[in-house]
Amino acid sequence: MLSPDRETAVLRHQAVTSPPAGPTGDGQLPAAGRDGKDAALVQAMFDRVAPRYDLANAALSFGQDAHWRRVTAGAARPADARVLDVAAGPGNVAVELVRQGATEVVALDLSYHMLAEGLRRGHDRISWVNGDAQALPFPDESFDAVTISFGLRNVPDPQLALREFARVTRPGGRVVVCEFANPTSPVFRTIYRRYLVGALPQLARVVSSSAPAYRYLADSILAWPDRASIAEWLTTAGYREVMVKDLALGIVAVHRGFRA
Ligand SMILES: C[S@@+](CC[C@H](N)C(=O)[O-])C[C@H]1O[C@@H](n2cnc3c(N)ncnc32)[C@H](O)[C@@H]1O
Repeated sequence: MLSPDRETAVLRHQAVTSPPAGPTGDGQLPAAGRDGKDAALVQAMFDRVAPRYDLANAALSFGQDAHWRRVTAGAARPADARVLDVAAGPGNVAVELVRQGATEVVALDLSYHMLAEGLRRGHDRISWVNGDAQALPFPDESFDAVTISFGLRNVPDPQLALREFARVTRPGGRVVVCEFANPTSPVFRTIYRRYLVGALPQLARVVSSSAPAYRYLADSILAWPDRASIAEWLTTAGYREVMVKDLALGIVAVHRGFRA
């Protein structure tokens, strides 16, 4: 049961929130590429995924996902910082940011049900906000760092979101973008693509609360731009000294930059 205060925190920004009664939508998936991606379908899909999100992630990544989120949080240098975690889901990165010393973390997500999962677990230094990465409800330069893990790929206009991240980051503050990528080794890339389109959707039937969402996952990873394009987007948005670190043989890429 959510306490009244905590409900207020989740419902503070109602613009794109789904009815708390249950996930919406008729099971339709959003477009996997960037053209025509509908935020309402993205939200409904993640509402359906929320109940078994962590279990599915751990199973489908063979337990690697916790390490990826630790690296993401660490790259934000969260000690004594106020950090915004965008597309926070149930707050896995947010919790890691607190564990690594953040004084305050704001976890923002489009999906009410994802946030409700995080709230249920309860974390003192995390506040939960239902909102859109493309229109952040925060003043300019109000965070020391902004993180997003496995979220940017799902945003209809990721470059608009990055401009919003830059707006709310203080000068000299950090941005960290953790996202799936295509492995650079041709042999491993072939094996990985077979896993993505073959085994992963089958496994998702067993471990996920919404297997079709994992077909979207595979398609959206294959449609996602390369590392250099993401680095260029970050620079254009207002970040400098952008670096990228590959994890898990390049299945995951973590970009980091500083607000100019
Ligand atoms: C794959 S989950 C990642 C959750 C978490 N960051 C993690 O690493 O486990 C993607 C999240 O992005 C959220 N999301 C998608 N589009 C969004 C948007 N435009 N604004 C905010 N959140 C969004 C979804 O609701 C979902 O919770």
